[in-house]
Amino acid sequence: MLDGKVAIITGGTRGIGFATVKKFLDNKAKVVLFGSKKQTVNKAIDELKKINKDYEVIGLFPNICNLKEVEKAFDKVQKKYGKIDILVNNAGICSMESIYDYTEENFRKIMDLNVNAVFNCSKAVVKYMKENKGGVILNTSSMVSLYGQSSGCGYPASKFAVNGLTKSLARELGRDNIRVNAVAPGVISTDMIKSVPEEKLKPLINTIPLGRIGNPEDVANAFLFLASDMASYITGDILSVDGAIIN
Ligand SMILES: NC(=O)c1ccc[n+]([C@@H]2O[C@H](COP(=O)([O-])OP(=O)(O)OC[C@H]3O[C@@H](n4cnc5c(N)ncnc54)[C@H](O)[C@@H]3O)[C@@H](O)[C@H]2O)c1
Repeated sequence: MLDGKVAIITGGTRGIGFATVKKFLDNKAKVVLFGSKKQTVNKAIDELKKINKDYEVIGLFPNICNLKEVEKAFDKVQKKYGKIDILVNNAGICSMESIYDYTEENFRKIMDLNVNAVFNCSKAVVKYMKENKGGVILNTSSMVSLYGQSSGCGYPASKFAVNGLTKSLARELGRDNIRVNAVAPGVISTDMIKSVPEEKLKPLINTIPLGRIGNPEDVANAFLFLASDMASYITGDILSVDGAIIN
C-alpha cells in the first residue's frame, strides 16, 4: 500500500511507533525511525532486520524538541531519498499526577515533547512535501483529547493541542495537497500503559465494549490506512481507535 513512499516515524523504537514502523515496512515503505537515543534506535533496527533483512529502514536520534536539530535531520533524509512522503508524529509521554502535585517543570516537559515536537517536525517537513506536490502528516492523539481525564491534566491538554494542530494544518495545507490527520488511541498495551496504576487501569478496561485493551498493531493499521491513497479525501480528522470506550 505504500510502495516506494518515504516515511519518518518519531518515537519508533517501541510500542505504537515500532508497530507502525513494521507495518509501513511490510507495506513496502522506506522508513526513517526517530528515537531519543542511539542505543534504543540501533536496538529497534537490529530487531527489525532480524525479522526481515530486506527492510529499508534507517534510524536517527535528533532532539525533536529542538527545531534546529529537527531541520538538520529532515534535511539528511531529504538528501538521502530525494523526498519525504509521510511524517508520523508519534513520540509522546504521559503523566498521571494530580494538579496538587504537578510541577511547572513537568507541565513544560510534557508540552515540549507532545506539542512542540509535533510543531517542529511538521514545520520541518512541509517545505519538502510542498516541493514534492503533496504528503501526509499523521499525529498520535489520544482518547483523552476528546473528554480529558481525572488526573494528569498536562497529558490531555497536550493532546487537545495536537488535535488543534491537526485540524488547523489540514485547513492550511490542503491546497498544497498535504493531508493532516490524527489517530486517537484508547487503552493500548505498551510501556506507557504499564505506568498506569492497576487500580486506575481495571475500571477502564470494564468500560471497553470490545472487552479488551487494544494492541499497538490496531493503531498501526489505522496509520497505514490514513497514510495510504485509500484515504486520499480524508483530512483534518481525528480517528478513534479505542474499542468504543465509554467515558
Ligand atoms: N499506550 C496508550 O494507551 C496510548 C493511548 C493514547 C495515546 N497514546 C500515544 O501514543 C504514542 C506512543 O505511545 P506508546 O503507548 O507507544 O508509548 P511508549 O512509551 O511505548 O513509546 C513512546 C515512544 O516515544 C519515544 N520518546 C519518549 N520520550 C522521548 C523524547 N524525549 N524524545 C523522543 N522520543 C521520545 C520513546 O522512545 C518511544 O519510542 C504517544 O504519543 C502516546 O501519547 C498511547
